Amino acid sequence: MSNEANAAAPDAAPTPPDAAEAHVPDEPRRDFLIKLSLGLGGVAALAVGVPVVSAVLAPLLQKNPQAWRKVGTLTDFPVGSTHLVKFENADPVAWSGVSSESAAWLRRDSETTFTAFSVNCSHLGCPVRWEQGAGLFMCPCHGGIYYKDGSVAAGPPPQGLTQYKIRVNGPHDVELLTAPIPITNITS
Ligand code: FES
Repeated sequence: MSNEANAAAPDAAPTPPDAAEAHVPDEPRRDFLIKLSLGLGGVAALAVGVPVVSAVLAPLLQKNPQAWRKVGTLTDFPVGSTHLVKFENADPVAWSGVSSESAAWLRRDSETTFTAFSVNCSHLGCPVRWEQGAGLFMCPCHGGIYYKDGSVAAGPPPQGLTQYKIRVNGPHDVELLTAPIPITNITS
């Protein structure tokens, strides 16, 4: 009786064939899913990272294009007068609209020489106005004041007004050397 029982015991609790067989194919599937997750994670990281890195590096690698722009003719600027002149930036993009334009205060110092300053205050960029009577540039935003030569007279501006190069091209045309906004590193 006991021999019969012992002989029957192995048959009483056999390993389910389905479970044993199902365990084997799980590993390749798990490996596949891990690799798929890593691959998708890498693609997602690239999709997010490439634009971010490009946005950070692009301004560092970009050249500052400049271009001469005509702002008038000699007869437009009597000697000793100061005028607000507008011009298109050197590298406007198609969708920039009015932001593709800049302006400068242009003074004719003599028959052959001009001085031009950016209208943008060096503090936070508000447009300054020229006060002929006082001989000063005034910023309406925080009270910044500049002398006639563009240097700071009072207020918060950390430095003088940015100066543009000017030339007379041909017999009459007065031209200004532009730069992209924000204007940097231009001195006459
Ligand atoms: S923006 Fe001109 S003083 Fe602040």
